[in-house]
Amino acid sequence: MQIDKRRLFTSSAIPAFVGLAASVTVWSSVQAADQTTTTRHNPAAIAKPQDFQLAASCNPCGPCNPCAAGANYATDCAVPRLAEAAPCHACNPCSPCAGAATPELSHREAAAAFDCIKDDLIAAYGKSGVSLSGKYRGWMRYSTAPYLSDAHGLRYVNNYTNETGRDYGNYEEAGDMAPGTIAVKESFVLSQDGRVGVGPLFIMEKHAPGSFPERRDWSYAMILPNGALQDQAAIQQFCNDCHIIAGDEDDNMMFLPDEYRVGVH
Ligand code: HEC
Repeated sequence: MQIDKRRLFTSSAIPAFVGLAASVTVWSSVQAADQTTTTRHNPAAIAKPQDFQLAASCNPCGPCNPCAAGANYATDCAVPRLAEAAPCHACNPCSPCAGAATPELSHREAAAAFDCIKDDLIAAYGKSGVSLSGKYRGWMRYSTAPYLSDAHGLRYVNNYTNETGRDYGNYEEAGDMAPGTIAVKESFVLSQDGRVGVGPLFIMEKHAPGSFPERRDWSYAMILPNGALQDQAAIQQFCNDCHIIAGDEDDNMMFLPDEYRVGVH
């Protein structure tokens, strides 16, 4: 069956706040909206994981201060073009910048932003104690520059696999990925006024045949910017519901837009 994955590149199925800390609780709970509101009214709770939110999910003039929202933007990285053009101060919680869509970066800008934030990403993921956090940069990288992934909450991402998963580089011709394959996607966030911050690490691991038939033997996980590992049942279902669309043909792999593929140009 031929599936139009391009469609997924433009879906916003992972809302901007998903993947940020206790997001699983947030999006797996019908009470999500209420919980968020409650915590937002408690200034002492600002640094708690459930408040790691992007500016886009905040009421621009509400008590939610995107600059105080956890570790996401606690870096010195910024995209000069956007910072200079911003009509407001970067850390003004009532900034009119909040609530707008993630800006589009050129390849060069995305590469520069990544260069600035890349050590912060490793430091953040390393807090999880998960060993691949310190290793994946030595793996094969398949994106020529970080690209904007709507499907992963409007974050800029790079794709990697370990050696076992090197067939990924054959993209749609790859066939089934070998058991032991680990595919990861590091991410950073970008505010409307050009601030660059840490986003989650998305992880998929292929297990032995028969391990998880309903997921084509993949397991899914995220490491959040505060180092928390999220791999509970709700995550498995959430990630798989979208990745399964890739079908038997592509073994749950979605790959990346052609213009960013290493080895295609
Ligand atoms: C709405 C659909 C959707 C959801 C939900 C989703 N993904 Fe993805 N995923 C994609 C698409 C599309 C790509 C490739 C392009 C991109 O990055 O946007 C991808 C790529 C990936 C890759 C690189 C391997 C590949 O398939 O090419 C990893 C790793 C990944 N996702 C992990 C996750 C994890 C972990 C979750 C759950 C937290 C998740 N994804 C949820 C759509 C989704």
